[in-house]
Amino acid sequence: MSTAKDLIASLERLGDEFLAVIQPLADEPGIRAAQAGFLGKKGKLSEVMKELGRLPAGDRPLVGAAANKVKQAIEDRVAARLGELADAVGKLDLARTIDVTLPARPIAAGHLHLLTQVRLEAIQIFSELGFVVEDGPQIETDWHTFEALAIPKEHPARDMQDTFYVSEDIVLRTHTSPVQVRTMLTQTPPIRIVAPGHVYRRDDDPTHSPMFTQLEGLAVDEGLSFADLKGVLLHFVKRFFARDLGIRLRPSYFPFVEPGAEVDMQCSFCMGSGCRVCKGTGWVEIGGAGMVDPEVFGHVKIDAEKYTGFAFGMGLERMAMLRHGVNDIKFYYEGDLRFLEQF
Ligand code: PHE
Repeated sequence: MSTAKDLIASLERLGDEFLAVIQPLADEPGIRAAQAGFLGKKGKLSEVMKELGRLPAGDRPLVGAAANKVKQAIEDRVAARLGELADAVGKLDLARTIDVTLPARPIAAGHLHLLTQVRLEAIQIFSELGFVVEDGPQIETDWHTFEALAIPKEHPARDMQDTFYVSEDIVLRTHTSPVQVRTMLTQTPPIRIVAPGHVYRRDDDPTHSPMFTQLEGLAVDEGLSFADLKGVLLHFVKRFFARDLGIRLRPSYFPFVEPGAEVDMQCSFCMGSGCRVCKGTGWVEIGGAGMVDPEVFGHVKIDAEKYTGFAFGMGLERMAMLRHGVNDIKFYYEGDLRFLEQF
């Protein structure tokens, strides 16, 4: 049977043992685990103290005092060791060499989407000629989109634009031309507007997307002629492509203009000598244009005897494609940074 002296000796041995155990430990979880191994409920100290009950009552306080002393020594050692570790970490931190003269890492700034850049540039160029920006709804009435533009229901020209119908009288606008109608209904000549915006058609291939962007132009005034139209378009193409490119107006049919034309420009890739982009012709189509048809003036109550007007519409994806060599219209909308970051 152990005596009080034996127990005290055991306790003191455990105290020494703990010092040896903790010495090589260099992380808090390890130190805490060692502490629990000695002081925890099932720890080594508790094991020894189980013997306490067998001692004569008079000896117990002595052993208890010894146990408390050892316990306190272990706790002190743990606190000291953890303090040492924290100090070491702090010192390492301070010892790090930082070159405060290094330039800061650049902040990755975003930029405008290519189509937005092209739209703003186009607006800028037309605004220099006195055009202001107008806007209209993308969900548009059949009347503004077609009827007022001399395309009645059942008119074969409706086939030129495969339309998304919301209801019989509401469509997703297939072109920005309804903005012409809205503008002429609310303003009096002289009118000079451009209307950029999204349009929708049931088209889907590498050069067509069900949603794309057009820029409409409209001028109404006394004495405007086809020469004014051509001058404006020519100026735009030269400015936008920053090159001396020619344009060509090919007779064509749009119900709301008379005469009407398709607008071609000299290919900006080969400067008109013929390449893959222009399919060897030297010319690429960029839009439609013409003189406002008197019937349209009738719908919007503008005096066709007094005023004449011209209108044009072009695809902005097309313009960006031709200037930057984008070969699939889908690239504009996918949000892939490898594409976006190039512009
Ligand atoms: N709105 C026509 C289209 O999208 C283009 C156009 C606009 C033609 C203005 C003539 C005048 O096809």
